[in-house]
Amino acid sequence: MEKYLINPNEKKSEICKDIYGNFSEHLGRCIYEGLYAGENSDIPNVNGMRKDVVNALKEMGLPVLRWPGGCFADEYHWRDGIGPKENRKKMINTHWGGVVEDNSFGTHEFFELCDQIGCDAYITGNLGSGTVQEMSEWVEYMTFGGDSPMSRLRRENGRQEPWRVKYFAVGNENWGCGGNMDPYYYSNTYKKYATYVRVYDWNNPIYKVACGPNAEDYHWTEELMKNAHRMMNGLALHYYTITHNWGQKGSATEFDENEYYMCLRKAYKIEEIIRRHLEIMNRYDPEKKVDLIIDEWGTWHDVEPGTNPGFLYQQNTMRDAMVAALSLNIFNKHSDRIKMCNIAQTVNVLQSVALTDGADMLLTPTYYVFKMFKDHQGNTLLGSHLTTDKSGEGENSLPTLIESASEDENGVIYSTVANISAGESKQIKCQIADSLVKGVRAEILTGAVDAYNSFDNKENVKTAEFTDFELTPDGFTATVPPCSVVKFVIEK
Ligand code: AHR
Repeated sequence: MEKYLINPNEKKSEICKDIYGNFSEHLGRCIYEGLYAGENSDIPNVNGMRKDVVNALKEMGLPVLRWPGGCFADEYHWRDGIGPKENRKKMINTHWGGVVEDNSFGTHEFFELCDQIGCDAYITGNLGSGTVQEMSEWVEYMTFGGDSPMSRLRRENGRQEPWRVKYFAVGNENWGCGGNMDPYYYSNTYKKYATYVRVYDWNNPIYKVACGPNAEDYHWTEELMKNAHRMMNGLALHYYTITHNWGQKGSATEFDENEYYMCLRKAYKIEEIIRRHLEIMNRYDPEKKVDLIIDEWGTWHDVEPGTNPGFLYQQNTMRDAMVAALSLNIFNKHSDRIKMCNIAQTVNVLQSVALTDGADMLLTPTYYVFKMFKDHQGNTLLGSHLTTDKSGEGENSLPTLIESASEDENGVIYSTVANISAGESKQIKCQIADSLVKGVRAEILTGAVDAYNSFDNKENVKTAEFTDFELTPDGFTATVPPCSVVKFVIEK
């Protein structure tokens, strides 16, 4: 029996709701088909936005959406995506399949989408191939409420009031697709561009995000923090979970037990990576003014056979759900320093929460994890500890049980426990320190490690009520099945 202690006396950080963000890029069928069907589509839509996907994202509690990229952002010229659609300039999406981008989804459409979902906007500006003036004018176009050349243009295009841009990134992956820069060059360039990302409304100041490191590139973090930390609010780390290697990543649905653990072990590595980047950040910024942002994370598998390799379309199994659950638990535990995370990507690309096929849509196991965990949004992280053995062999082993616990403003406790073991259930005895427990209810997501939802069987994996627990005066005992995530809602 594993011992699980949750301590309501140990109130830690607020879990910023934006940890539960998504990322959506002009890539494959994410924006076009996935989120935006077009105003004249037969697919049910409101102003072009798919009703089914928007409703699903609303129910999932999506707090913030990142757009327009990714690599696409550093080739995107925002003026091509405004004004009458028939006049919009076309371009080649060089990063993603070389397809023609018609710019029918641009700034106005993005804010319409955010409005319909009820989420905040996170915009990535073009530092790689755009000018300082272009970036500065985009910010003026979106956020200036007075009379100016850009706000006049916005009004001519049908939008009277400025929008709220909560987060603005000054470039994306500028160590790679965003210009192949070294950290010295980028940090100076960042400072130049960021200077002209003006705040026009001090009630809604723009939170500026600098391009952070790729995974374990600690040198990048060191130089950025040394040279530019005073001009940024957040530094954005990217970390993808790739089971094998970039050349041959591995199938999304066909894998053996060893590959299952290999993938989870790679996902779990993010814990060490976060700690090491934070250690560097804390040295240059002991007052901890700069947050860590993880604006691209998730699994990256081989594309589904027969699909365009440039479209990054992959299925999503319970293995992906376990990656989501363990990552979100880790992000919660670091919520004193991590303020936003954006899984890549929302629909039809990489570790999506929804997949579409024409007018049809399914929700992935990852979707259900986000929906279960949404109760943590805005709560206070509590001190908690769960004893655990390890699962997996040798270098592919990791803790079997990974959890986090939070408390809402009414004193209700939410605990999300992931049992990553492929075959063993785990008994836990949970105690809530100094508390009498009135009641517990619980929900579970479980299935075979390779179980997924297909368009022929859309509800193969979904959440269900969980009853395999017994109350004790100060907590409960429970048997958590293998490859499952259980949410306990505990009333004191
Ligand atoms: O999410 C896919 C791509 O991965 C993004 O465009 C890029 O930023 C990263 O390399």
